[in-house]
Amino acid sequence: MSSTISTSRTNHLSSLAFHEKDRVEPVCKKQLADWGIDYFDLYLMHFPIAQPYVDPAEKQPIGFTQDDNGKALQGKAPIQETWQAMEKLVDNGLAKSIGISNFQGSLIIDLLRYARVRPAVLQIEHHPYLVQPQLIQLAKSEGIAVTAYSSFGPVSYHELDMKKALDAPVLFENPVIKKIAEAHGKTPAQVLLRWSTQRGIAVIPKSNNPQRLQQNLDVGSFDLTEAEINEISGLDRHLRFNDPMDVSCLSDFEYPEASD
Ligand SMILES: NC(=O)c1ccc[n+]([C@@H]2O[C@H](COP(=O)([O-])OP(=O)(O)OC[C@H]3O[C@@H](n4cnc5c(N)ncnc54)[C@H](OP(=O)(O)O)[C@@H]3O)[C@@H](O)[C@H]2O)c1
Repeated sequence: MSSTISTSRTNHLSSLAFHEKDRVEPVCKKQLADWGIDYFDLYLMHFPIAQPYVDPAEKQPIGFTQDDNGKALQGKAPIQETWQAMEKLVDNGLAKSIGISNFQGSLIIDLLRYARVRPAVLQIEHHPYLVQPQLIQLAKSEGIAVTAYSSFGPVSYHELDMKKALDAPVLFENPVIKKIAEAHGKTPAQVLLRWSTQRGIAVIPKSNNPQRLQQNLDVGSFDLTEAEINEISGLDRHLRFNDPMDVSCLSDFEYPEASD
């Protein structure tokens, strides 16, 4: 898969409440019916964590289920069970490819031990504050294409009022990003997207603004130098905003302040 802005019909096993083997195909079929299509090009396991089943007729949107103290509830389905149910989506023509999201390296290595259908794609949070070179190298060495979400870092989480994101310096204002953008006559957003695509990582930025949508599509018309790419990668702070651990058991965990 080349580095690209994705236009394929991709969908997620969107709720963690459908990880049990008998739940996967019905929810996929419901999503296909909602879209009015026969199959997905790519169907992803959204999170490596299961929650208990929730009947969609009783709760919409399903979101995360929590106990009375606000702690996320755990489901019983192990990843292997969910993956094997997703493999059957490929067997039955409901998905051309299947993939994973928010998986770390050891989970990928484990999944590859039993996968009859290998994951085509790994979708991860990826921006200069969270570079994850080892994870990306592992995926590439296993022939798994990497897709980045939250390419602009903290701004993706501002609308959620997430303190960790509100406290983090905005990448668009970062002097390194601004300097490189000015050198190429591009916007900081375009530099952030090009930094990914030039390293073989697909990007899927979203915007409600037509000018920014246009801008985000125009990221193949310039090349960063290797020194510029390395300078941007050097901004790494191992700062993750969408952490599966937050929805598993540590929802009240207080993160230490990020250091410069
Ligand atoms: N697998 C997962 O767990 C996961 C998690 C999160 C997101 N995703 C997926 O990733 C995709 C992108 O979502 P995201 O949350 O990562 O959002 P994003 O692409 O990081 O966009 C965040 C915000 O940036 C702004 N923006 C977009 N282009 C811009 C530009 N050129 N200049 C300045 N600001 C710009 C947008 O605001 P405006 O609308 O005002 O332009 C948008 O609200 C979605 O398809 C989403 O479903 C997946």
